[in-house]
Amino acid sequence: MPKITLLGQSAVLLEGEKTKCVIDPFINGNPDITYGLKPSDIKVDYVLVTHGHWDHLGDAIEIAKNTGATLIAPFELVVFCQSKGVQNAHPMHIGGAHRFSDDFWVKLTIAHHGSAFMDDKGNITYTGNPCGFVVELDGKKIYHSGDTGLFLDMQLIGELGLDVAMIPIGDNFTMGPEDGAKAVEFLKPKIVIPMHYTAWDLIKQDPNYFVNLVGDKAEVKLLKPGESLEI
Ligand code: NI
Ligand code: MN
Repeated sequence: MPKITLLGQSAVLLEGEKTKCVIDPFINGNPDITYGLKPSDIKVDYVLVTHGHWDHLGDAIEIAKNTGATLIAPFELVVFCQSKGVQNAHPMHIGGAHRFSDDFWVKLTIAHHGSAFMDDKGNITYTGNPCGFVVELDGKKIYHSGDTGLFLDMQLIGELGLDVAMIPIGDNFTMGPEDGAKAVEFLKPKIVIPMHYTAWDLIKQDPNYFVNLVGDKAEVKLLKPGESLEI
C-alpha cells in the first residue's frame, strides 16, 4: 500500500513498506507549501529529479547531501549534482530501467521540455534532457511525467500498466487540461493525479474542468498540497 503525497507543484513523496523516495523536491520557495514543510523534514532513500529547472531540482541537492539518499536523474544532471557535492548518485538515461531492490524499480521516460539549470546570476548550465519516471514501488506502478507536452508515445508508457499517473495540467510550460485529458487516454492509468497547476497565476487551472474532460477514462484524485493517497 504505497502512500503518495503531493507536496506541492510537482514535488511528490512516495512511501512504501521499506523504501521511500521523493520526486522533484522543490520545497524552499514553493508557493504551494504553506504548511511548514522544510527540506530537513524529508527523510528518504532516493531523490529522483526529472530536470534542472529550479521548481523541480529544488532542494534535491541539499536533501541528498543531508540524508545520504541516492540521487537518481539523467546522466548530465547527476554530474551537475555531483559537482555541487552530492556523494551518492545513480545516473540513468531515457529508456533505461534499473531495479534498485526487490520493492523499488525505476524507468526513465521521454519528456518534451527543457532542462537547464539557471543560477541567480542568470548563468545557464546544461543538464541534459528532461525525463519522466515510472516507479514501481511495492508492486504498484506510478508514472510521474515531469514537465512535458503531450506525446503519442505515452501509449507505450501506458502499456506498462499504470496504477497511477501524475501529470501537469498547468498549461503555458506544460500540458494544459485538454492535453492532460488526452494523455490520460494514452496512459490508461487507474488513477490520475494532476499537478503543476496551483503554484503561480500563470499556471492556475480549475481542476474540475480537467475532471470533466477525463470523464470515466480514469479516476481523478485531486490532492491539495500536503495531502496523501494510499493505493
Ligand atoms: Ni520545467
Ligand atoms: Mn516546472
